[in-house]
Amino acid sequence: MRMKLPEPKTTGVVSVEEALNKRRSTREYAEAGLNLFEVAQLLWSAYGITSSEGFRTAPSAMALYPLEFYLSATLVEGLPLGFYQYVPTSHELKKLGDESKREELYTASFEQTALAGAPAILIISGIYDRTKEKFGESGPDYVHMDLGHAAQNVHMQAVSLNLGTVVIAAFRRDDVKKALSLPEEETPLYMMPVGRLPGSAC
Ligand SMILES: Cc1cc2nc3c(=O)[nH]c(=O)nc-3n(C[C@H](O)[C@H](O)[C@H](O)COP(=O)(O)O)c2cc1C
Repeated sequence: MRMKLPEPKTTGVVSVEEALNKRRSTREYAEAGLNLFEVAQLLWSAYGITSSEGFRTAPSAMALYPLEFYLSATLVEGLPLGFYQYVPTSHELKKLGDESKREELYTASFEQTALAGAPAILIISGIYDRTKEKFGESGPDYVHMDLGHAAQNVHMQAVSLNLGTVVIAAFRRDDVKKALSLPEEETPLYMMPVGRLPGSAC
């Protein structure tokens, strides 16, 4: 099942300087959930298409785009609980399962509590095969550089939406890969739990 996401907003009231100044890794979230517009905007900020040539919100070495984005949705208004893949070319979510797998992600992360309480978690995986031909043995470096750009975009977008997030890299990659049934060629690299800031209004 595929679901068209709300059109991304390309203007906002928080300046880049303000977002840079306010950005902080946030590991505790309010009980409240997110909504579909917010998760759509976060996904778009990571890898959304911004030009007719297919270029995106984040730079990518030789425009190879070696990253894939998944969403574990536990409490997102307008989105049934489940596990999804973001399809940047059509700005859609593809449903891959009826469980969010949050518990499995939490366990795989050595029980990092940020994951246990998050209404939504972005999972970013890399496909090293996509950079191998152009960059040879340096290919993995380029995947990781791309990852940093995309994750920082999500951080900035989260500030602009008054949401909290953190990049989590300390987890058992094989366990996450298995829990999410990721394709063989993919390696999960970051998990980004997202939630409302404690004490903030919806
Ligand atoms: C490559 C990388 C891996 C990280 N892994 C984790 C992690 O597994 N768990 C976590 O809570 N924070 C993780 N962080 C977030 C850092 O702890 C955080 O950025 C740092 O303490 C500085 O705080 P700030 O982001 O609020 O400025 C990671 C950050 C980076 C860049």
